[in-house]
Amino acid sequence: MPYFSFHHSEPTRKKTVQAEFFTTLVHKMKVLVATEKPFAKVAVDGIREVVESAGYELALLEKYTDKQQLLDAVSDADALIIRSDIVDAAVLDAAKKLKIVVRAGAGYDNIDLEAATSHGVVAMNTPGQNSNAVAELALGLMVFAVRNMYNGTSGTELKGKKLGIHAFGNVGRNVARIAQGFGMDVYAYDAYCPDEAMVAANVKPVHSAEELYKTCDIVSLHIPATAETKNSINHDLVNLMPKGGVLVNTARKEVIDEEGLIALLQERTDLKYITDIMPVADAKFRTLFEGRYFATPKKMGAQTAEANINAGIAAAKQIVDFIQNGNTRFQVNK
Ligand code: 3PG
Repeated sequence: MPYFSFHHSEPTRKKTVQAEFFTTLVHKMKVLVATEKPFAKVAVDGIREVVESAGYELALLEKYTDKQQLLDAVSDADALIIRSDIVDAAVLDAAKKLKIVVRAGAGYDNIDLEAATSHGVVAMNTPGQNSNAVAELALGLMVFAVRNMYNGTSGTELKGKKLGIHAFGNVGRNVARIAQGFGMDVYAYDAYCPDEAMVAANVKPVHSAEELYKTCDIVSLHIPATAETKNSINHDLVNLMPKGGVLVNTARKEVIDEEGLIALLQERTDLKYITDIMPVADAKFRTLFEGRYFATPKKMGAQTAEANINAGIAAAKQIVDFIQNGNTRFQVNK
């Protein structure tokens, strides 16, 4: 069966179903995996297996350093698998045959959704596939923070501490599960999640971000980067945290008001900021807050073989299912 084209009201690339069918008959579909930060080899092998079993061709562009390399590689791709790689109007302009882009991961703020729609390209993510990996890293960063970054001095334990989960999605739920194993007292705030879902997971719901920060010794961020959340983690909000508070970010750097947080860390020498997403002002944070600030050199949350396999293979399967059956279940540019 031919792939089902995605028809926007005014697509720039209207194709008839008949033309699509003809295309699939004479043309071997090409799936490009473009990852500046590569998947584990075992995950690439799994993706290849799915793609080639469907009769498609796999192309790989890994560790590219120049956007032009992506523009060149995408020019004859029918489908694209990415991670945090930027897919903007320039990439979509270059991708003349592209029908679908799948972000192998949760956050799709790296895809220009409007441009995808106007180019007639379906955009998807693979929700939940890498969430355990990110959650495990969040807990690892918490231990690292409360043990004073393993500098030999006496730290504290997570057991009995109040943990605030800011957004109770796939990652937040895994953080709650693991934190309970540490004996933490877990709270969560999520304007879009009913209390019942938190209570069912033995998590205490709170009803504002302010209440979460005021209550919790450690706050773990799991909010997406949207117009609503950008710069929302600011001086006044984090200042509500009790003495010795730790803010852990495995979400996005854009949600932090960096200048506000820098001002606060200068005023409150008891606070720590630990992040898996290096801030724009990393050098300033490093110079000013030695021992209270840490950033991974590259986002590591989803960088496990298991997460790469889960998200990469899910992405490949979603592409095949879209091309063969028109399944748009995980489409994010509807
Ligand atoms: C996600 O949104 O899935 C995570 O931030 C992981 O991103 P990565 O695939 O770029 O590591």
